[in-house]
Amino acid sequence: MATALLTEGIAAADSFQCPVAYTAGLMHDIGRLALMKSFGAKRYADFVRAAGTSAQPLTEIELEHFGIDHCKIGKLLLQHWRLPEDLAEAATHHHSPESWSANRMLRTLGCACAVSATLGFAAVTRPQAPLSDIILAALPNNLRSQFLNSPEAVEAALNERVNSLQGVKPAGPPKTKN
Ligand SMILES: [Fe+2]
Repeated sequence: MATALLTEGIAAADSFQCPVAYTAGLMHDIGRLALMKSFGAKRYADFVRAAGTSAQPLTEIELEHFGIDHCKIGKLLLQHWRLPEDLAEAATHHHSPESWSANRMLRTLGCACAVSATLGFAAVTRPQAPLSDIILAALPNNLRSQFLNSPEAVEAALNERVNSLQGVKPAGPPKTKN
């Protein structure tokens, strides 16, 4: 959900009319659910444990565990459902910045995915590398400044929106007893 909100936010900040931005952000990691459903909770838990302590790219660890990564299986699933090709492209290439230049939606989503992971919203908790120059360069100027100057503020704002959509009420002041 954080990636969906960020994809939409980056598109808006960049004056990019992208009707599928939020949906692409929501669906880009659908392959993770497909892996969990296809291979079972135990194997997926083993994968999460291995991935959490490894510096190896996540997609490589998935290939070793499942013989396919979440990008490829996500693409196959979205194509099977006959959803727009933009969504399948997003699932396929969101971890491949070298594929982003020709596709603005993909670049927007890829940036959002990387930023949300850096801020701690990743599906698999693991050490996060700092944002690459490619990703920083692709961010709209105002968001790049916000992120570089105060990532905590961006994280807090994103947390507030995610919680609001999930119906989580912010903690109020402690109740006093009469
Ligand atoms: Fe992913």
